[in-house]
Amino acid sequence: MSDRSTHWDNVYATKGEAEVSWFQNSPATSLAMIRAANPDRAAAIIDIGGGASRLVDALLLDGYRDVAVLDLSANALDAAKKRIGAAASRVDWIVADATTWRPTKAYDLWHDRAAFHFLTDSGDRTAYIERLRSAVAPGGHVIIATFALDGPEKCSGLPVQRHDSASLAAELGPGFELVETRNEAHHTPWNSTQAFQFSRFRRHS
Ligand SMILES: C[S@@+](CC[C@H](N)C(=O)[O-])C[C@H]1O[C@@H](n2cnc3c(N)ncnc32)[C@H](O)[C@@H]1O
Repeated sequence: MSDRSTHWDNVYATKGEAEVSWFQNSPATSLAMIRAANPDRAAAIIDIGGGASRLVDALLLDGYRDVAVLDLSANALDAAKKRIGAAASRVDWIVADATTWRPTKAYDLWHDRAAFHFLTDSGDRTAYIERLRSAVAPGGHVIIATFALDGPEKCSGLPVQRHDSASLAAELGPGFELVETRNEAHHTPWNSTQAFQFSRFRRHS
């Protein structure tokens, strides 16, 4: 196991769902941006670094039928599966590192909340974007949520790279057009506030 997956498996083995700073009872901004990007419930959606997030529950409840969750922590995905119960069989669960994973199908929507910002090494970011570019279908959408430029410098004890829509556009490179950006003050379970930005891009057809 890599240092990265050891860190995250340990987090999910030792902390309950609402004991992590990124916990959201309702991933409302993500869901609203996904609906805006792709109202077609047959759209292929992947949540990168989805962890134990409740986004997958919300997507299934909303009628999306082709949902994948990728995370490098098997413990995280096991926690989500356990919570969801029988409906978990309708989800494609992928244990992989987003910087080395080899996508086997095309996705209409790529969502990432608070995983990309851990890539502080430019080589890792390049590797992640290569995977994204090979996985996102022409005309597909990319939603990346990170700590904003005025957000925290660390998450889960690890340093992060903060972003805005311009830095994300530069990371994505040519062929993607910014559609919208939303700022969000995320309230942690212990009621501190973290500045997030959510940017949505559309890949040219
Ligand atoms: C801060 S948590 C956010 C989880 C979830 N997206 C949410 O909003 O609740 C970051 C997640 O990214 C995962 N992660 C970190 N680096 C990753 C990588 N290189 N590849 C895949 N997953 C990664 C971690 O295991 C963890 O579940």
